Amino acid sequence: MSNSNDAKYIDIQNVEQTFKTKKGNFPALREINLTVAKGEFVALIGHSGCGKSTLLNLIAGLTTPTSGVLLCADREIAGPGPERAVVFQNHSL
Ligand SMILES: Nc1ncnc2c1ncn2[C@@H]1O[C@H](COP(=O)(O)OP(=O)(O)OP(=O)(O)O)[C@@H](O)[C@H]1O
Ligand SMILES: [Mg+2]
Repeated sequence: MSNSNDAKYIDIQNVEQTFKTKKGNFPALREINLTVAKGEFVALIGHSGCGKSTLLNLIAGLTTPTSGVLLCADREIAGPGPERAVVFQNHSL
């Protein structure tokens, strides 16, 4: 059964993620806007360090963004949940 939320099952709005490092603030993600429909298959592609895992961690609810908002089924992602999972990559990758 479909409903009006299905086209924007995941809705990422203006997400920014800045990490505090010894060398100062490091902006890993900026102006991320993305929607994913229910059942849609999406691949994030980019060079090492471009921020793929940073975004997946946000969708999984393991971290919270510096600014912006992430929604799942119109509810703010505030932590991990059974409808969102992440498979961790090997540290050597
Ligand atoms: N906790 C953190 N503190 C500081 N910098 C971080 C932290 N996590 C990630 N970064 C930096 O943010 C950037 C994005 O990292 P991320 O792990 O999201 O990249 P990635 O696209 O998943 O790369 P890979 O293809 O190697 O897995 C990198 O420059 C990384 O060094
Ligand atoms: Mg990664």
